Order: sequence, then C-alpha cells, then structure tokens
Amino acid sequence: MLNGKRVLLIIGGGIAAFKALELIRLIRKAGGAVTPVLTPAAQEFVTPLSASALAAEKVYSDLFDLTDEAEMGHIELSRSADLVVVAPATADLIAKMAHGHANDLASTILMATDTPVLIAPAMNVRMWLHPANQRNIVTLEADGVSRIGPDEGDMACGEYGPGRLAEPEAILASIEARLGQGPLTGKHVLVTSGPTHEPIDPVRYIANRSSGAQGSAIASALLRLGARVTFVTGPAEAPMPIGAEIVPVQTADQMLAAVTSALPADAAIFAAAVADWRVESATDKKIKKTRSGKPPALKLAENPDILATISKKRKGRPGLVIGFAAETDDVIANATAKRKRKGCDWIVANDVSPGTGIMGGTENAVTVIDADGAEEWPRASKRDVARRLAERIAQALG
Ligand code: C5P
Repeated sequence: MLNGKRVLLIIGGGIAAFKALELIRLIRKAGGAVTPVLTPAAQEFVTPLSASALAAEKVYSDLFDLTDEAEMGHIELSRSADLVVVAPATADLIAKMAHGHANDLASTILMATDTPVLIAPAMNVRMWLHPANQRNIVTLEADGVSRIGPDEGDMACGEYGPGRLAEPEAILASIEARLGQGPLTGKHVLVTSGPTHEPIDPVRYIANRSSGAQGSAIASALLRLGARVTFVTGPAEAPMPIGAEIVPVQTADQMLAAVTSALPADAAIFAAAVADWRVESATDKKIKKTRSGKPPALKLAENPDILATISKKRKGRPGLVIGFAAETDDVIANATAKRKRKGCDWIVANDVSPGTGIMGGTENAVTVIDADGAEEWPRASKRDVARRLAERIAQALG
C-alpha cells in the first residue's frame, strides 16, 4: 500500500505514454497521490486533461508558468514527493538526466530533486541498445537512479527486442517496494530460492527441477509488507521479485558465501533447493569420450548445509530462521525431525510426491512446524501461501 505517499510522475513523450495513465490509476488505487508532469512531447500522446482527471490533481508542464512559480516553484515541486518516477523515460529524457540538462520543466525537476528517482525506460530497440543510451544508463546507475525494465517483446514500431515499457503493475510493485509502509518496514529479510547448478565440467552440471516460484512469491509478499529483501537465487525460471536486491549464484558454495555476506538479517527463509552434492573435482576442460568407451566416474562431495550453518551460528544468527522440507512420505514426522536437526525455528513442510503436482506447479499445500507443533494450511496458490507466511513472519517479528 502507498497510503499517504506522493509520487511525482514525469511522463515522457513516447507511444507508451498512454500506459502512464493506467499507472496513475494504479498508484491512486494503492492509496498514493500522484502529481503528473507532462513533457511537451508527452502531450502529443496523452492530454493534460486525462492525466489531471485520473490523478485528480493539477498537471504541470511548463517551466515558465509564472502562477506555478508563485504557488510552488519548480524546486519545491521537485521535492514535494516521496519518489520521482519517470515513465516512459525516453532516450532523450535519459540523455538529459545523464548529462545534467535543465532546459524544461521535467529535466529541471530531475536536476533539482533530492528525492529518489525511478525510471521506466521505453524506446525503440535500436535506440535502447545504442551505445550512447547504454552509456547514459550506466551513468544513471552510478548516480543511484533506480530502473525498472525495459521489457522485451513486440514493439509498436514493428520490431522485437528490449525497449517496451514495463507493465504498469510491475512499475507499481517497484514503487511499493520503495515507498510501501507495512508491518515489516525497517526489517531486513533474506530469502534463498531456486535450484543450484553444480558443475561437472565447463559445459555440464548437476541440477534439480526447482522453478523458484515459491521463493519468488515469498520475497514479493515480504516486499509488499514493507521489508527490505535480499534474494539469493540459483538459476531459476520464475520471475524475479521486483524491488528485492537480487544476488544471482550458481552453486551451493556461492549461495552460502552470498547468504553470509548478506547478514545481518532479522529473518532468513531458506526456500532454495540446494544440491546436496557437488562433483568433487569439476574439471576446467570439457570431459571427452574416451576411446575405450568407458564412461567417466563422477566422485561426489557433500555441499555445505546453508540452513544448518546459519541456524547454528553463535554470532549474528537472524532472529527467525525458516527452512523448507520437501518430503514424499511421513511428511510431518520427517519435517519435525529436520527442524531439530537443522536448528531452525520453523520448517515449512510440503508433500512433493509426483501425484500432488506441487513441484513445478502453481499451488502448494504446506504444514508449518514450530516449537509449539504443526499447523496444517489448506492447499492454495503459491502466492497465497507466500502471503500467509509473510504475515506470520511479520507477527513473529513484530
Ligand atoms: O535436508 P533438506 O535438503 O531436505 O533440507 C531442506 C532445507 O534445507 C531447505 O530449507 C533448504 O533450503 C535447506 N538446505 C540448505 N543447504 C543445503 C541443503 C538444504 O540450506 N545444502
């Protein structure tokens, strides 16, 4: 939710400008207020009247509007919001931001503001990939400007590639991740997710079928409650949680290192399907077939147990450590024993027998086990399970 928060929305001139109107509607629906600023080019695509009607606010567009200078002034306007959002951020606006131009209202606000800035770029794929634009993006990243998108897909100009404006729902999620107030505001939560890939040689690896869907959903639910989330993920298929700090890793060893360096955290949720074993001596060169036709023997070594390592930390252990137990039989008995063995506070147990359709599916049926016993939750979407778990975490940390 964005209750009481104000977004200054700078709408650049591009075909995607019409989506900015939907964004205004979504921000308001989430409880936020929007002050729209339209560049002259944006007014070729959407009218100030429609932006103003949707925002239920005055729209600003002219730097030299003297009434506004008397009422508010562009400096004040630039600081009146909790977040400045540029959507769509055109190649021209991005270039102006990167080079510090201030020759119209939008660029002047962006130069004068001391408020965090989020850009949602949208432009033709060639323009996005042009070295000049890419240089500007690197400059803005170094300046601390956050970015969402662009998405990849069909473009209004008939081409295909990166350059589409991120969907308004995704931009809203990104705004909420920065401004949202909730029971977890001020808390840092660490989430591991996805499978790990353990190399055999430079081209082959051992992996598992985890999609990362439950981990991503948990991170998103925590973000919605206001948490700062570090998301340490193996190579997963599921979309990344927007607004989290994403730390991509490949192996269990890398995951442990990333988790350790992300501490301290108020809570840590280990949803990753970490490979139990790695190949003891993965080779630098591709293993070739031998003339004798004898297949190579892979010697496995045990991977670190990340959950157990963090749970048993004497110093710097997160206040709440949650593990997962994917079981195929005696789910509750096995998971209860696992909670003790690993030293974590809660275990989220689920039955992943092939008939359940849970592994790789969209639903989950879990039992949450803590020191007081087992609590069975009804089968629900992974998103709903994540929401309920995030609420339980908020209660425990509150
Ligand atoms: O022992 P098992 O793999 O069933 O335990 C599952 C739980 O332990 C999950 O929370 C998983 O993320 C975590 N785990 C881990 N490091 C490992 C193996 C499992 O953190 N090497």
